[in-house]
Amino acid sequence: MWFMRQAGRYQPTYRALRQQYNFMDLATDPSLCVDVTCRPVEDLGVDAAILFSDIMVPLAPMGVNFTIQESIGPVIANPIRSMRDVLALGSVTPERDLPYVLDAVHGIVERLGPIPLIGFAGGPFTLASYMIEGGPSKNYLYTKRMMWTAPDVWAALMTALVDVVSTHLTAQVKAGAGAVQIFDSWIGSLAPEDYEQWVLPYMAEIFRRLAPLAVPRIYFGVGTGSLLELMVSAGPDVLGIDWRVPLIDARRRIGPHIALQGNLDPARVTAGYDAVVGPTQALLGSMRGDPSYIFNLGHGVLPMTDALVLKQLVDLVHREGKRGDAL
Ligand code: CP3
Repeated sequence: MWFMRQAGRYQPTYRALRQQYNFMDLATDPSLCVDVTCRPVEDLGVDAAILFSDIMVPLAPMGVNFTIQESIGPVIANPIRSMRDVLALGSVTPERDLPYVLDAVHGIVERLGPIPLIGFAGGPFTLASYMIEGGPSKNYLYTKRMMWTAPDVWAALMTALVDVVSTHLTAQVKAGAGAVQIFDSWIGSLAPEDYEQWVLPYMAEIFRRLAPLAVPRIYFGVGTGSLLELMVSAGPDVLGIDWRVPLIDARRRIGPHIALQGNLDPARVTAGYDAVVGPTQALLGSMRGDPSYIFNLGHGVLPMTDALVLKQLVDLVHREGKRGDAL
Protein backbone atom coordinates (compact mmCIF):
# COMPACT_ATOMS: atom_id res chain seq x y z
CA MET A 1 0.00 0.00 0.00
CA TRP A 2 0.95 3.61 -0.57
CA PHE A 3 -0.85 6.91 -1.16
CA MET A 4 -0.84 9.23 -4.11
CA ARG A 5 0.18 12.68 -2.76
CA GLN A 6 1.51 11.12 0.43
CA ALA A 7 3.89 14.09 0.62
CA GLY A 8 1.95 17.33 0.72
CA ARG A 9 0.05 20.00 2.53
CA TYR A 10 -1.80 17.70 4.96
CA GLN A 11 1.59 17.28 6.73
CA PRO A 12 2.49 19.99 9.27
CA THR A 13 6.18 19.43 8.40
CA TYR A 14 5.48 20.02 4.68
CA ARG A 15 3.48 23.18 5.41
CA ALA A 16 6.35 24.46 7.54
CA LEU A 17 8.88 23.83 4.75
CA ARG A 18 6.61 25.63 2.28
CA GLN A 19 6.83 28.77 4.46
CA GLN A 20 10.49 28.91 3.41
CA TYR A 21 10.51 27.39 -0.06
CA ASN A 22 8.15 27.35 -3.01
CA PHE A 23 7.09 24.10 -4.65
CA MET A 24 9.74 24.16 -7.38
CA ASP A 25 12.50 24.90 -4.83
CA LEU A 26 11.55 21.66 -3.07
CA ALA A 27 11.32 19.66 -6.30
CA THR A 28 14.65 20.89 -7.71
CA ASP A 29 16.82 20.69 -4.57
CA PRO A 30 17.89 17.05 -4.21
CA SER A 31 18.41 17.10 -0.46
CA LEU A 32 15.05 18.78 0.23
CA CYS A 33 13.40 16.45 -2.30
CA VAL A 34 14.87 13.36 -0.59
CA ASP A 35 13.58 14.57 2.75
CA VAL A 36 10.08 15.43 1.53
CA THR A 37 9.82 12.09 -0.31
CA CYS A 38 10.99 9.95 2.63
CA ARG A 39 9.12 11.75 5.40
CA PRO A 40 5.68 10.14 4.77
CA VAL A 41 7.26 6.69 4.45
CA GLU A 42 8.94 7.10 7.81
CA ASP A 43 5.94 8.76 9.52
CA LEU A 44 3.12 6.62 8.09
CA GLY A 45 4.80 3.27 7.49
CA VAL A 46 3.54 2.89 3.92
CA ASP A 47 5.17 0.20 1.76
CA ALA A 48 6.52 2.46 -0.99
CA ALA A 49 7.71 6.00 -1.59
CA ILE A 50 6.66 8.15 -4.52
CA LEU A 51 9.14 10.64 -5.85
CA PHE A 52 8.30 14.19 -4.76
CA SER A 53 8.03 16.13 -7.99
CA ASP A 54 5.32 17.21 -10.39
CA ILE A 55 4.15 16.07 -13.79
CA MET A 56 5.21 19.50 -15.12
CA VAL A 57 8.86 19.29 -14.01
CA PRO A 58 10.24 17.54 -17.16
CA LEU A 59 8.50 20.10 -19.37
CA ALA A 60 10.63 22.99 -18.06
CA PRO A 61 13.70 22.05 -20.14
CA MET A 62 11.45 21.85 -23.23
CA GLY A 63 10.86 25.56 -22.80
CA VAL A 64 7.42 25.32 -21.19
CA ASN A 65 7.18 28.27 -18.87
CA PHE A 66 5.00 27.36 -15.90
CA THR A 67 4.42 28.17 -12.27
CA ILE A 68 2.68 25.95 -9.71
CA GLN A 69 0.03 28.07 -8.02
CA GLU A 70 -1.36 27.10 -4.65
CA SER A 71 -4.87 25.57 -4.79
CA ILE A 72 -4.85 25.93 -8.60
CA GLY A 73 -2.01 23.84 -9.99
CA PRO A 74 0.24 24.46 -12.98
CA VAL A 75 -0.28 27.70 -14.91
CA ILE A 76 1.54 28.18 -18.21
CA ALA A 77 2.60 31.52 -19.61
CA ASN A 78 2.95 30.39 -23.24
CA PRO A 79 0.23 27.85 -24.12
CA ILE A 80 0.82 25.60 -27.13
CA ARG A 81 -1.75 26.29 -29.83
CA SER A 82 -0.02 25.89 -33.22
CA MET A 83 2.51 23.78 -35.11
CA ARG A 84 4.98 26.62 -34.66
CA ASP A 85 4.56 26.35 -30.87
CA VAL A 86 5.12 22.58 -30.99
CA LEU A 87 8.20 22.88 -33.21
CA ALA A 88 9.68 25.41 -30.80
CA LEU A 89 9.67 22.83 -27.97
CA GLY A 90 13.11 21.49 -27.07
CA SER A 91 13.90 17.84 -26.47
CA VAL A 92 14.84 16.60 -23.02
CA THR A 93 17.87 14.57 -21.98
CA PRO A 94 17.16 13.77 -18.31
CA GLU A 95 20.81 13.25 -17.32
CA ARG A 96 21.66 16.71 -18.71
CA ASP A 97 18.44 18.65 -18.12
CA LEU A 98 16.97 17.10 -14.96
CA PRO A 99 20.04 16.07 -12.91
CA TYR A 100 18.37 17.20 -9.67
CA VAL A 101 15.60 14.61 -10.16
CA LEU A 102 18.08 11.78 -10.69
CA ASP A 103 20.25 12.96 -7.77
CA ALA A 104 17.13 12.89 -5.60
CA VAL A 105 16.27 9.36 -6.80
CA HIS A 106 19.76 8.16 -5.83
CA GLY A 107 19.46 9.80 -2.41
CA ILE A 108 15.97 8.40 -1.75
CA VAL A 109 16.92 4.86 -2.72
CA GLU A 110 19.95 5.03 -0.46
CA ARG A 111 17.94 6.37 2.50
CA LEU A 112 15.02 3.94 2.13
CA GLY A 113 17.00 0.75 1.67
CA PRO A 114 14.58 -2.09 0.87
CA ILE A 115 11.48 0.12 0.56
CA PRO A 116 10.82 0.71 -3.14
CA LEU A 117 10.60 4.12 -4.78
CA ILE A 118 7.91 4.71 -7.39
CA GLY A 119 9.02 7.06 -10.15
CA PHE A 120 6.37 8.86 -12.17
CA ALA A 121 5.45 11.02 -15.10
CA GLY A 122 2.26 12.56 -16.42
CA GLY A 123 0.44 10.88 -19.27
CA PRO A 124 0.78 12.65 -22.62
CA PHE A 125 -2.91 13.63 -22.75
CA THR A 126 -2.83 15.13 -19.26
CA LEU A 127 0.42 16.98 -19.99
CA ALA A 128 -0.89 18.17 -23.35
CA SER A 129 -4.05 19.45 -21.67
CA TYR A 130 -2.04 21.72 -19.34
CA MET A 131 0.22 22.85 -22.19
CA ILE A 132 -2.66 23.65 -24.53
CA GLU A 133 -5.19 25.09 -22.05
CA GLY A 134 -2.51 27.05 -20.15
CA GLY A 135 -3.70 25.67 -16.81
CA PRO A 136 -6.36 23.47 -15.22
CA SER A 137 -9.51 23.13 -17.27
CA LYS A 138 -13.11 22.04 -16.93
CA ASN A 139 -14.04 21.27 -20.52
CA TYR A 140 -10.64 20.90 -22.28
CA LEU A 141 -11.98 22.85 -25.22
CA TYR A 142 -8.69 23.95 -26.77
CA THR A 143 -7.28 20.46 -26.27
CA LYS A 144 -10.21 18.66 -27.89
CA ARG A 145 -10.42 21.20 -30.68
CA MET A 146 -6.75 20.67 -31.50
CA MET A 147 -7.31 16.88 -31.52
CA TRP A 148 -10.25 17.13 -33.90
CA THR A 149 -9.33 20.08 -36.11
CA ALA A 150 -5.51 20.06 -36.21
CA PRO A 151 -4.58 16.37 -36.03
CA ASP A 152 -1.08 17.02 -37.39
CA VAL A 153 -0.35 19.49 -34.56
CA TRP A 154 -1.84 17.04 -32.04
CA ALA A 155 0.27 14.16 -33.39
CA ALA A 156 3.45 16.26 -33.27
CA LEU A 157 2.79 17.33 -29.67
CA MET A 158 1.85 13.81 -28.48
CA THR A 159 4.91 12.34 -30.21
CA ALA A 160 7.18 14.85 -28.46
CA LEU A 161 5.52 14.00 -25.14
CA VAL A 162 5.95 10.25 -25.68
CA ASP A 163 9.71 10.91 -25.93
CA VAL A 164 9.85 13.06 -22.78
CA VAL A 165 7.73 10.69 -20.70
CA SER A 166 9.62 7.57 -21.81
CA THR A 167 13.10 9.01 -21.36
CA HIS A 168 12.22 10.62 -18.04
CA LEU A 169 10.82 7.36 -16.63
CA THR A 170 13.70 5.32 -18.02
CA ALA A 171 16.20 7.64 -16.35
CA GLN A 172 14.35 7.37 -13.02
CA VAL A 173 14.45 3.56 -13.18
CA LYS A 174 18.13 3.55 -14.13
CA ALA A 175 18.77 5.80 -11.11
CA GLY A 176 17.05 3.28 -8.84
CA ALA A 177 13.24 3.63 -8.99
CA GLY A 178 11.65 0.19 -8.56
CA ALA A 179 8.32 0.93 -10.29
CA VAL A 180 6.76 3.72 -12.33
CA GLN A 181 3.31 5.27 -12.40
CA ILE A 182 1.88 7.29 -15.25
CA PHE A 183 -0.62 9.85 -13.98
CA ASP A 184 -3.04 10.40 -16.84
CA SER A 185 -5.39 12.12 -14.45
CA TRP A 186 -7.66 13.87 -16.92
CA ILE A 187 -8.34 11.18 -19.58
CA GLY A 188 -11.75 10.64 -17.98
CA SER A 189 -12.85 13.74 -19.90
CA LEU A 190 -12.66 11.78 -23.17
CA ALA A 191 -15.27 9.61 -24.89
CA PRO A 192 -13.91 6.06 -25.33
CA GLU A 193 -13.63 6.44 -29.10
CA ASP A 194 -11.61 9.65 -28.69
CA TYR A 195 -9.33 8.00 -26.13
CA GLU A 196 -8.85 5.08 -28.50
CA GLN A 197 -8.05 7.22 -31.52
CA TRP A 198 -6.10 10.15 -30.02
CA VAL A 199 -4.42 8.82 -26.88
CA LEU A 200 -4.16 5.03 -26.80
CA PRO A 201 -1.53 4.67 -29.57
CA TYR A 202 0.80 7.05 -27.71
CA MET A 203 0.26 5.34 -24.35
CA ALA A 204 0.89 1.94 -25.93
CA GLU A 205 4.16 3.25 -27.36
CA ILE A 206 5.26 4.48 -23.91
CA PHE A 207 4.52 1.11 -22.30
CA ARG A 208 6.38 -0.64 -25.14
CA ARG A 209 9.44 1.53 -24.55
CA LEU A 210 9.33 0.90 -20.79
CA ALA A 211 8.89 -2.89 -21.03
CA PRO A 212 12.63 -3.72 -21.22
CA LEU A 213 13.17 -2.02 -17.85
CA ALA A 214 11.27 -4.93 -16.26
CA VAL A 215 9.72 -2.85 -13.45
CA PRO A 216 5.97 -2.68 -12.70
CA ARG A 217 4.30 -0.01 -14.83
CA ILE A 218 1.20 1.50 -13.19
CA TYR A 219 -1.38 3.43 -15.24
CA PHE A 220 -3.73 5.74 -13.34
CA GLY A 221 -6.53 8.07 -14.36
CA VAL A 222 -9.57 9.71 -12.75
CA GLY A 223 -13.15 9.12 -13.92
CA THR A 224 -12.08 6.26 -16.18
CA GLY A 225 -15.09 3.95 -15.70
CA SER A 226 -15.74 3.83 -19.42
CA LEU A 227 -12.06 3.45 -20.36
CA LEU A 228 -10.76 0.54 -18.27
CA GLU A 229 -10.54 -2.03 -21.07
CA LEU A 230 -8.87 0.49 -23.40
CA MET A 231 -6.38 1.49 -20.70
CA VAL A 232 -5.49 -2.16 -20.17
CA SER A 233 -4.97 -2.57 -23.91
CA ALA A 234 -2.24 0.12 -23.70
CA GLY A 235 -0.15 -2.50 -21.89
CA PRO A 236 0.43 -1.52 -18.22
CA ASP A 237 1.13 -4.06 -15.46
CA VAL A 238 -1.10 -2.31 -12.93
CA LEU A 239 -4.32 -0.33 -13.43
CA GLY A 240 -5.03 2.43 -10.90
CA ILE A 241 -8.63 3.60 -10.62
CA ASP A 242 -10.68 6.04 -8.58
CA TRP A 243 -13.57 5.27 -6.21
CA ARG A 244 -16.31 5.58 -8.83
CA VAL A 245 -15.81 1.98 -9.99
CA PRO A 246 -15.90 -0.86 -7.42
CA LEU A 247 -12.58 -2.69 -7.72
CA ILE A 248 -14.34 -5.99 -7.87
CA ASP A 249 -16.28 -4.84 -10.95
CA ALA A 250 -13.04 -3.61 -12.49
CA ARG A 251 -11.50 -7.02 -11.82
CA ARG A 252 -14.39 -8.76 -13.57
CA ARG A 253 -14.02 -6.48 -16.57
CA ILE A 254 -10.24 -6.65 -17.02
CA GLY A 255 -9.54 -10.28 -16.12
CA PRO A 256 -6.89 -11.74 -13.78
CA HIS A 257 -3.68 -10.87 -15.61
CA ILE A 258 -3.17 -7.28 -14.50
CA ALA A 259 -2.79 -5.92 -10.97
CA LEU A 260 -5.31 -3.42 -9.57
CA GLN A 261 -4.59 -0.36 -7.45
CA GLY A 262 -7.02 1.77 -5.46
CA ASN A 263 -9.50 3.09 -4.52
CA LEU A 264 -10.86 4.47 -1.25
CA ASP A 265 -12.46 7.89 -1.75
CA PRO A 266 -9.86 10.38 -0.39
CA ALA A 267 -12.74 12.47 1.00
CA ARG A 268 -13.44 9.56 3.41
CA VAL A 269 -10.14 10.13 5.14
CA THR A 270 -11.07 13.77 5.83
CA ALA A 271 -14.25 12.58 7.58
CA GLY A 272 -12.40 10.87 10.45
CA TYR A 273 -11.34 7.34 11.25
CA ASP A 274 -14.89 6.14 11.97
CA ALA A 275 -15.84 7.00 8.40
CA VAL A 276 -12.84 5.04 7.12
CA VAL A 277 -12.93 1.68 8.93
CA GLY A 278 -16.06 0.10 7.43
CA PRO A 279 -15.44 1.02 3.79
CA THR A 280 -11.78 0.01 4.05
CA GLN A 281 -12.68 -3.38 5.50
CA ALA A 282 -15.31 -3.81 2.78
CA LEU A 283 -12.80 -2.88 0.09
CA LEU A 284 -10.14 -5.24 1.42
CA GLY A 285 -12.76 -7.97 1.86
CA SER A 286 -13.85 -7.57 -1.75
CA MET A 287 -10.25 -8.03 -2.90
CA ARG A 288 -9.40 -10.88 -0.53
CA GLY A 289 -7.77 -13.68 -2.52
CA ASP A 290 -7.37 -11.42 -5.53
CA PRO A 291 -4.39 -12.37 -7.70
CA SER A 292 -2.71 -8.98 -7.40
CA TYR A 293 -3.85 -5.89 -5.51
CA ILE A 294 -2.25 -2.68 -4.18
CA PHE A 295 -4.19 -0.59 -1.67
CA ASN A 296 -4.31 3.15 -2.38
CA LEU A 297 -6.80 5.98 -2.35
CA GLY A 298 -8.76 6.65 -5.53
CA HIS A 299 -6.84 9.93 -5.99
CA GLY A 300 -4.35 12.01 -4.00
CA VAL A 301 -4.48 12.67 -0.25
CA LEU A 302 -6.41 15.92 0.24
CA PRO A 303 -4.79 18.87 2.06
CA MET A 304 -7.44 18.89 4.83
CA THR A 305 -6.68 15.27 5.76
CA ASP A 306 -5.67 14.58 9.38
CA ALA A 307 -2.23 12.92 9.33
CA LEU A 308 -3.21 10.79 12.34
CA VAL A 309 -6.23 9.32 10.54
CA LEU A 310 -4.04 8.51 7.56
CA LYS A 311 -1.60 6.70 9.85
CA GLN A 312 -4.50 4.77 11.42
CA LEU A 313 -5.60 3.79 7.91
CA VAL A 314 -2.12 2.42 7.14
CA ASP A 315 -2.18 0.34 10.32
CA LEU A 316 -5.68 -0.92 9.54
CA VAL A 317 -4.75 -2.03 6.03
CA HIS A 318 -1.60 -3.76 7.27
CA ARG A 319 -3.54 -5.51 10.07
CA GLU A 320 -6.34 -6.64 7.77
CA GLY A 321 -3.84 -7.62 5.10
CA LYS A 322 -2.06 -9.94 7.50
CA ARG A 323 -5.35 -11.37 8.70
CA GLY A 324 -6.40 -12.09 5.12
CA ASP A 325 -2.88 -13.32 4.28
CA ALA A 326 -3.86 -14.05 0.66
CA LEU A 327 -4.35 -10.31 0.11
O1 CP3 B 1 2.06 11.81 -5.02
C1 CP3 B 1 3.04 12.33 -4.48
O2 CP3 B 1 3.16 12.40 -3.21
C2 CP3 B 1 4.20 12.78 -5.32
C3 CP3 B 1 4.17 14.13 -5.71
C4 CP3 B 1 3.24 14.62 -6.80
C5 CP3 B 1 2.86 15.97 -6.87
N1 CP3 B 1 2.19 16.17 -8.02
C6 CP3 B 1 3.20 16.96 -5.86
C7 CP3 B 1 2.43 18.20 -5.79
C8 CP3 B 1 2.71 13.98 -7.91
C9 CP3 B 1 2.77 12.51 -8.30
C10 CP3 B 1 2.04 14.98 -8.68
C11 CP3 B 1 1.40 14.71 -9.96
C12 CP3 B 1 0.48 15.69 -10.52
N2 CP3 B 1 0.62 17.05 -10.60
C13 CP3 B 1 -0.72 15.36 -11.16
C14 CP3 B 1 -1.24 13.97 -11.32
C15 CP3 B 1 -1.82 13.47 -10.07
C16 CP3 B 1 -3.17 14.06 -9.73
O3 CP3 B 1 -3.28 14.68 -8.69
O4 CP3 B 1 -4.10 13.85 -10.53
C17 CP3 B 1 -1.33 16.54 -11.59
C18 CP3 B 1 -2.67 16.67 -12.30
C19 CP3 B 1 -0.45 17.61 -11.24
C20 CP3 B 1 -0.65 19.05 -11.49
C21 CP3 B 1 -0.75 19.72 -10.17
N3 CP3 B 1 0.34 20.14 -9.43
C22 CP3 B 1 -1.91 19.99 -9.41
C23 CP3 B 1 -3.33 19.70 -9.86
C24 CP3 B 1 -1.49 20.56 -8.21
C25 CP3 B 1 -2.32 20.88 -6.99
C26 CP3 B 1 -2.78 22.26 -6.84
C27 CP3 B 1 -3.11 22.49 -5.39
O5 CP3 B 1 -2.42 23.31 -4.78
O6 CP3 B 1 -4.02 21.84 -4.86
C28 CP3 B 1 -0.09 20.65 -8.25
C29 CP3 B 1 0.78 21.14 -7.18
C30 CP3 B 1 1.36 20.07 -6.33
N4 CP3 B 1 1.97 18.96 -6.84
C31 CP3 B 1 1.40 20.04 -4.91
C32 CP3 B 1 2.08 18.88 -4.57
C33 CP3 B 1 2.46 18.40 -3.19
C34 CP3 B 1 0.90 21.12 -3.97
C35 CP3 B 1 1.98 22.14 -4.02
C36 CP3 B 1 2.02 23.05 -2.86
O7 CP3 B 1 1.26 24.05 -2.86
O8 CP3 B 1 2.87 22.86 -1.98
